[in-house]
Amino acid sequence: MRVAVYPGSFDPITYGHLDILKRGAAIFDKVIVAVLINSAKQPLFSVDERKQMIEESIKQANYKVPIEVDSFEGLLVDYLRNKDIHVILRGLRAISDFEYELQVASINRKLAKDVETIFLMTNNMHSFISSGSVKEIAKYGGDVTDLVPPHVVTALKEKSAIITP
Ligand code: PNS
Repeated sequence: MRVAVYPGSFDPITYGHLDILKRGAAIFDKVIVAVLINSAKQPLFSVDERKQMIEESIKQANYKVPIEVDSFEGLLVDYLRNKDIHVILRGLRAISDFEYELQVASINRKLAKDVETIFLMTNNMHSFISSGSVKEIAKYGGDVTDLVPPHVVTALKEKSAIITP
């Protein structure tokens, strides 16, 4: 069974992430979306909120293979090792992503020689979307309906008390 872990902050999940997930699900027999628990960062959404938004997106998308949602803390390669999984799935939006992704993939390979990182190119339609820009737009009351699913738009509005400038 070919299983891949799709790791990220997903704060919040966007149509760009969902595009990668959809195409990953067409290649692998199972994909685990793994939300990073990073105590050093100040995310807008809690890990549980992020997981719920991902679960809801998965329910709506109706994938043909199982998609699991999980969270992890610490090194990604340790998470993979514990689950005996050998593939990391990541999306590349533009050349600007490449340097960072190359660095992370190289570190992960150094830490775990039996782990491969597979990159999928984000659909051009979504290549400009990032969770950061979604939060920025929502913060200033801009329209994010083309960038994230409706339930994420609602969640962003519910957070408006926190993110309103
Ligand atoms: O969505 P993001 O923030 O670009 O995802 C980054 C992520 C979660 C893939 C990366 O930060 C990660 O794997 N962090 C876990 C810590 C780790 O394994 N670090 C070693 C590689 S630098």
